[in-house]
Amino acid sequence: MIEFKNVSKTYNNRDFVLKNVDLHIDDGEFVFIVGPSGSGKTTLTKLLLREEKVSEGRIVINGFRLDKMRSGKVPYLRREMGVVFQDFRLFPKKTVYENVAFAMQVIGAPHSSIKKRVPFFLDQVGLADKMKSFPTQLSGGEQQRVALARALVNNPEIIIADEPTGNIDPQMSIEIMELLVKLNEKLGKTVIVVTHEQNLVDRYRKRVITIKDGEILNDRIGGMFDE
Ligand SMILES: Nc1ncnc2c1ncn2[C@@H]1O[C@H](COP(=O)(O)OP(=O)(O)OP(=O)(O)O)[C@@H](O)[C@H]1O
Ligand SMILES: [Mg+2]
Repeated sequence: MIEFKNVSKTYNNRDFVLKNVDLHIDDGEFVFIVGPSGSGKTTLTKLLLREEKVSEGRIVINGFRLDKMRSGKVPYLRREMGVVFQDFRLFPKKTVYENVAFAMQVIGAPHSSIKKRVPFFLDQVGLADKMKSFPTQLSGGEQQRVALARALVNNPEIIIADEPTGNIDPQMSIEIMELLVKLNEKLGKTVIVVTHEQNLVDRYRKRVITIKDGEILNDRIGGMFDE
C-alpha cells in the first residue's frame, strides 16, 4: 500500500512542485499518472523511491515511513520496487545482460538464479538477441526495454515506470503495456505508469491520476469505453 498525506515538495524552498498531495494506492492496483511536462510526475516517483525527501507531509509504503526513514534503510524500501527511470540509467560499460544481472547481484541473488532469470526477462521485452550489446549500440526504445527488464528481474511487488514507452514505436508500446497489464492482472503487482501519451491511457480502463502544477487535478477511471 502506498499512501501520501499532505505531501509537498520544493527543491529551492520557494517554488512548490508538489502541493498537498493526498494519494492512496492499494496493493494490486494499476494506476496511470498523467499531466503536462513539468507538472511533478517524475518528482512524485522520486519521492516514492526516497530518492528525494518530502518537504512536508507523510509517505507510507508497505509499512515504511519514508519521511522519517534513515538513509541506511532505503535499500530495503527499494527492494520492494522495480523502477524504469525516464532517463533509463543504464551502465554504459556493462552489456545488456550485465546491466540486468547487476540488479540481482546487488541484492545477493545466487548465480544460478541470475543465469535463469536475466535471459527470461530479456526475452520478455524482445531483446533476447541483444544480450551482448552495450547500451550505446542500442536504440532508445531498446535501452528503455533493458531498463524494464532490469526493473522486473527481482520480482518486485511495486513496478514504477516513468514514460516506459516514450521512445518506442506504437506497436512495441502496446506490447510493453500489455506486459505491465499482465504483471498486474496475473501476478497482482502494483503498477504505476507515468505517461503523457493520452492514446495509450485511452486503450485501458484503468485508474488515471492527472497532475497539474503539482496538484492532483483529478483521479478517475479512464478509457474510451461507453458506459
Ligand atoms: N532536481 C531539481 N532541482 C530543481 N528543480 C527541479 C528538480 N527536478 C525537477 N525540478 C522542477 O520541478 C518541476 C517538476 O519536474 P518533474 O520532473 O517532476 O516534471 P514531470 O511532470 O516529470 O515532467 P516531464 O513530463 O517533462 O517529465 C519542474 O518545474 C522542474 O523544473
Ligand atoms: Mg518526468
